Amino acid sequence: MVKEKGQEFPMVAKTLFGLEDILADELVKLGAKGIEKHNRAVSFVGDQGFMYKANLNLRTALRILKPIKSFIVKDEQWLYREIQKINWSDYMDVTDTLAIDCVLSSDNFTHSHFLAQKAKDAIVDQFRDAFGVRPSVELDRPTLRINLHIHQDTCTVSLDSSGESLHKRGYRDQTNLAPINEVLACGLVMLSGWDKSSVFIDPMCGSATILIEAALLAGNIPPGYYREEFGFQRWKDYDEDLWETIYTASLKKINNNPVQLIGVELSRNVARKARENIKLAKLEDVITVHHTSFQEFDPPADPGVLVMNPPYGERMHQEEDINGLYQSIGDTLKKKYEGYSAWIISSNREAFKYVGLRPSKKIPVFNGQLECRFMRFDMYEGSKKLSKRKENNQE
Ligand SMILES: C[S@@+](CC[C@H](N)C(=O)[O-])C[C@H]1O[C@@H](n2cnc3c(N)ncnc32)[C@H](O)[C@@H]1O
Repeated sequence: MVKEKGQEFPMVAKTLFGLEDILADELVKLGAKGIEKHNRAVSFVGDQGFMYKANLNLRTALRILKPIKSFIVKDEQWLYREIQKINWSDYMDVTDTLAIDCVLSSDNFTHSHFLAQKAKDAIVDQFRDAFGVRPSVELDRPTLRINLHIHQDTCTVSLDSSGESLHKRGYRDQTNLAPINEVLACGLVMLSGWDKSSVFIDPMCGSATILIEAALLAGNIPPGYYREEFGFQRWKDYDEDLWETIYTASLKKINNNPVQLIGVELSRNVARKARENIKLAKLEDVITVHHTSFQEFDPPADPGVLVMNPPYGERMHQEEDINGLYQSIGDTLKKKYEGYSAWIISSNREAFKYVGLRPSKKIPVFNGQLECRFMRFDMYEGSKKLSKRKENNQE
């Protein structure tokens, strides 16, 4: 890899649908140049140090890609030839391993897996022709992860500087709970506009992902703080001193501002797992998890922000169960959360109606494959009286 210190190059940060604006803001604050928003991605310009900094600090990015070549592609053979034109010895050795991810948004091609195979053949054949041996494929922890993005007839080849997706923060051990993606969890906290100092409550906290992300945000703790490794640390041009400098400077910005984060969880087992995750993240001093129901729990009177990811009902059998749950969420908010700003994410539009409050904001997001709304309900001081009056009028 030909390298000049401080030389700038374009990069692309991938994200989830609906988080592009937040990611662009993060990039502005981090000091990126040439920021442009796209669908589920933001492009920008920076140098090698900035690439390290972005991987460590961006909360709503999934991957940071470094494009190395773009070309028109007509068919698989064309792809093979163009990939072979890249001198892969600049990026890896024959003893290294590789993996290729292929993302398609094209009417001309249908099989991303087949295209990834073709690109892999082009690379390993180049090494075999030069050295008589070929590098191996390793899907989990390759030396070099390569990303092909084919949009219509344009293929962009990038090096994936993140390696494992950045949502894998490294603080979560309890994976059997189908928790929310960490990048989405953090995006929700940021979209809620929480001021990072008032009370923050997740009253159906599950494995505590939203609470942990909120605590990291408030403490200015880099989301990559717990990770063992980033992809760029296996690259040929990895600059360990530069990484140490960036890492140390980022950790210096961690603060100890007092903040109160509260979780509530109905299941004893899940509450225990939430506490284990919080301990792994060393956040026991700022997050408390109560094993009780949202309906029973009494929040601090000093209002703050509530962000909640209730069950959506895909696994519930009776329709009235889920509608009844959402109705009791609305009732509890009205009764106990005066002055709070309450945010709920759900894919269940029907059940949302049973909350019985008018949302002041509706933000479309995806939780995995599920199209969701992230809705804000302002629990004005008057909303309790107003709903009481409505009830009386209905009687
Ligand atoms: C969709 S999961 C939340 C997942 C969470 N965001 C995470 O990342 O792990 C919903 C959680 O709400 C809990 N729950 C359901 N009803 C509840 C209630 N009435 N009070 C408190 N928690 C409840 C469930 O036990 C479950 O853990």
